[in-house]
Amino acid sequence: MKCKEINNPNFAEEMADVNSAAFGYRSIPIISKYRIKQRIGNLRYKAYGCFIKKTLTGFLFVDNKPNEFVCSPSEKLIEHFGVLPWRQGEGIGYILLSYIINVKFPLNSFHLTVDPLKHKVRSFYRKFDFIEYGETHMVLMRKNETVHQQQKFFYV
Ligand SMILES: CC(C)(COP(=O)(O)OP(=O)(O)OC[C@H]1O[C@@H](n2cnc3c(N)ncnc32)[C@H](O)[C@@H]1OP(=O)(O)O)[C@@H](O)C(=O)NCCC(=O)NCCS
Repeated sequence: MKCKEINNPNFAEEMADVNSAAFGYRSIPIISKYRIKQRIGNLRYKAYGCFIKKTLTGFLFVDNKPNEFVCSPSEKLIEHFGVLPWRQGEGIGYILLSYIINVKFPLNSFHLTVDPLKHKVRSFYRKFDFIEYGETHMVLMRKNETVHQQQKFFYV
């Protein structure tokens, strides 16, 4: 198993596949191949991956200049951290995050966001001394055609 920086945009496709597999194909936080390529060419971001026999099994992005509305400028933002579902629970995520925190950025503070329902992931981060300090919510909105028609009918 080898953790290293990914600076070759040719990995974008493999990274997008790992990301959609890790987060689920219909999940909101997935990042497209196009956006991955953009980030690899942008000094603001660094991508780090974990490879087993040259196959990418997990990766994350470190945002070095996160938006001030997201977190403090002194913190680095960890984003899109995911491991292939069939390799989860084997210690890959632990090794990759340890590599980031202890080897690449030993003197830094970090920020990240987690889906509130992912309790196992939250406890995973607590093992690295991340603490939970707040929570935001997503509001799901839907325009239902049937309801719309019923309303029209009601007002006629
Ligand atoms: C979150 C995620 C990246 C973690 O990667 P992973 O490879 O599954 O994690 P690991 O196998 O390293 O760790 C799993 C467990 O083993 C523990 N572990 C693994 N290796 C360990 C070691 N060497 N020493 C101590 N504990 C270890 C972890 O702390 C964790 O324990 P927990 O289940 O009690 O929390 C991965 O599960 C994932 O991709 N999830 C879906 C996407 C997602 O939600 N990403 C997070 C976005 S914020």
